[in-house]
Amino acid sequence: MNAAIRGVVRTAIFNGLKVTGIRQGYYGMIYQDFIELEASGVSDIIQRGGTILKTARCEEFRTPEGRQKAYDNMKLAGIDGVVVIGGDGSFTGARLFNEEHDIPFVGVPGTIDNDIYGTDYTIGYDTALNTVVEAVDKIRDTASAHNRMFFIEVMGAEAGFIALYSGLATGAEAIIIPEMDVNQYSLKNLIESGNSRKKSSNIIIVAEGGKSGGAFAIAEKVKNDFKDYDIRVSILGHLQRGGSPSAIDRVNASRLGHAAVEALLDDQKSVMVGLSNGEITLVSFRRAVKLHKDVDRNLIELARILSV
Ligand code: F6P
Repeated sequence: MNAAIRGVVRTAIFNGLKVTGIRQGYYGMIYQDFIELEASGVSDIIQRGGTILKTARCEEFRTPEGRQKAYDNMKLAGIDGVVVIGGDGSFTGARLFNEEHDIPFVGVPGTIDNDIYGTDYTIGYDTALNTVVEAVDKIRDTASAHNRMFFIEVMGAEAGFIALYSGLATGAEAIIIPEMDVNQYSLKNLIESGNSRKKSSNIIIVAEGGKSGGAFAIAEKVKNDFKDYDIRVSILGHLQRGGSPSAIDRVNASRLGHAAVEALLDDQKSVMVGLSNGEITLVSFRRAVKLHKDVDRNLIELARILSV
């Protein structure tokens, strides 16, 4: 997100605009947590994870009164347009705001889950994916040295992008994601499809939450079917959300930040900038929030074929 903030600030200044940073998202709009951002204020941040502006959940912005306060504060501060980095929740708030008030909002997709409709890519996904791959490779060393079966839980409670892509990238024996109905197969069969020849290790990547109940629940369900294996569970958790961003994340976030300012200059509002087939696109908040981005079903099949 810092690379996107830098992209926004530098593009705006290049175009002769003044930039105000709103700290803590919508909360900062309602409680006037504004800071002026100069070009130098975003130096030395492109390589840092997180966001210099911080983030917060804000129940008050869900109410018309909260949005009115935010509007009044922004009018007072002379804010004429807003770039909001976020996902479904942020864009829903932004859309409501734009139905009620005349300060245009443009969105930049930011979530490690990569589950926003209308864009192939969301900020943080590539870094998170690479972090997961590095961790799984390391766990694989223990798994093969000890002949173990590992259930590794990754983020993505409602979307299996991280699980599916990391599973493919690490040669996981099985991948369990919310998009698959695990009842279709028995869990045992699913895991065995990657286990038909005796392997010295087994890695099963599980997307958190969902109907499967997560890695611990699955390991518990199948432990009697795989008595030859010493079973272990590893939850990767929030380490997936931090760290220095990958080169791809830095470049894409810079492009999206730049594109968001360009969109505001073009009088756009209530739209998200996205990346589709390498090109910048504009998608309405309405579509970005309402429509569902599915994982590529061919990749589920590919993972199954390659894991035998
Ligand atoms: O950004 C979405 C996400 O990464 C989910 O995959 C995960 O369930 C959630 O955030 C974790 O959020 P929190 O930090 O609030 O526990």
